[in-house]
Amino acid sequence: MGFVPPAGVSWSRVGAETSGEGRWAVAEERRYRLPLVLGDLSLRRLRPGDAADVLAYRGDPAVARGQYWEPYTAEGVRVLLIDQGHVRPGMYGVPLILGAEYEGRVVGDFDLTVSSPEHAQGEVGFNFNRGYTGRGLATRGLAAVLGFGFVQLGLHRITAATFTDNERSWRLLERVGMRREGHFVHDGFVRGRWVDVFGYGMLADEWSSRHGGLAAAVRS
Ligand SMILES: CC(C)(COP(=O)(O)OP(=O)(O)OC[C@H]1O[C@@H](n2cnc3c(N)ncnc32)[C@H](O)[C@@H]1OP(=O)(O)O)[C@@H](O)C(=O)NCCC(=O)NCCS
Repeated sequence: MGFVPPAGVSWSRVGAETSGEGRWAVAEERRYRLPLVLGDLSLRRLRPGDAADVLAYRGDPAVARGQYWEPYTAEGVRVLLIDQGHVRPGMYGVPLILGAEYEGRVVGDFDLTVSSPEHAQGEVGFNFNRGYTGRGLATRGLAAVLGFGFVQLGLHRITAATFTDNERSWRLLERVGMRREGHFVHDGFVRGRWVDVFGYGMLADEWSSRHGGLAAAVRS
């Protein structure tokens, strides 16, 4: 599901406050190699011009059902995309969102958060436009985003959390080789009910063994 900020706090403010480093220009990120190009699918930073594409899925109640958040409004997407312009890869506690571009539009996204710099831990989440699911795009993209976290950000372990009733989500996590590490009972109170969550994890060397063929595509 990805890292959840305090209500009403914008991502870039969280980053500025927790890192003490202020805002970073995207131009300072040259040492990270993006986009990740995977043939007909590429993973890249989101831009303000992606608003309509992003709203098409983040505004979809069926997509939001798998998340702690409510469907995005157009204003919510606008703010999210402005905030993303200030996020630096590797910044502590702030999701870096990579859009999945396919057939000339953003059809989904992955968020990757450094949740503990001291312990080289990260957390990943994802959302896809329902018109583009069922084709393996999320599977291909997630394998590469994990690789970006391990190879370029130097993470040792990346986790993911999903509601236990979100079978599409946990099947995707297992398809890329993530290990179910826990079942958290009544982990949150969402839309009027207590929800159970499965926790997943993968280590850097497990990614290399399974997805080593992607190393060139995700290297900096
Ligand atoms: C989670 C989510 C991204 C999964 O989408 P998905 O379509 O199941 O995943 P993929 O795009 O990888 O497609 C996998 C399907 O395509 C098939 N497929 C076709 N070509 C494939 C390929 N080259 N590689 C892998 N799978 C392929 C798979 O068999 C699978 O089909 P199945 O579900 O019938 O077994 C999507 O359901 C979603 O956006 N949900 C809403 C948001 C959400 O809940 N996010 C998670 C919060 S934790």
